Amino acid sequence: MSNQSDTKPAVPAVVPDVPALPILIAPHPVLKAKARPAGPQDTDTVRDLIPRMFATMYKAPGIGLAAPQVGVGLRVVVIDLMAGNVSTPLTLINPDIIAADSELETREEGCLSLPGQYADVTRPARVTVRYTDASGAKRQIEADGLLSACLQHEIDHLDGILFVDHLSILKRNIIMRRLGKEMRLKER
Ligand code: NI
Repeated sequence: MSNQSDTKPAVPAVVPDVPALPILIAPHPVLKAKARPAGPQDTDTVRDLIPRMFATMYKAPGIGLAAPQVGVGLRVVVIDLMAGNVSTPLTLINPDIIAADSELETREEGCLSLPGQYADVTRPARVTVRYTDASGAKRQIEADGLLSACLQHEIDHLDGILFVDHLSILKRNIIMRRLGKEMRLKER
């Protein structure tokens, strides 16, 4: 997820000293594919991937990034809301939403895979997410507000869902056309 359009991007004082990865831009087939759970055979891949995902997210800058956005089809998410300019990095391996509020909340979202595009998205106000952390420990987090939206946005990425998929076809088409046009202009 990218910073909201009206907030200044923040970057933590210490960024992992590894190269950032290229971020895939929509429409890209990998962004539409379902990622697979990371298993014991992926331990080395995931260990190398996590700092590079953080470096990529901070460089962008963004507040959340899912592995498919850097072309890796594994269920791995990194988040750092940088609330009050304080870094609170969160690594989620194989995250699952195990409970979602019936109360809904609408907030503006953006996405590093749709640079410069923002829209209001309505989602459950609160969610409970079960996941494995970077040390391999099983954890559970209950979130509301921005963290709730960010968790849902990033977990959507693992299922090939982008924030524009929550909008009407009309709104989605407008954003995708605008993005395509802006990306073509950028290439020139
Ligand atoms: Ni995103």
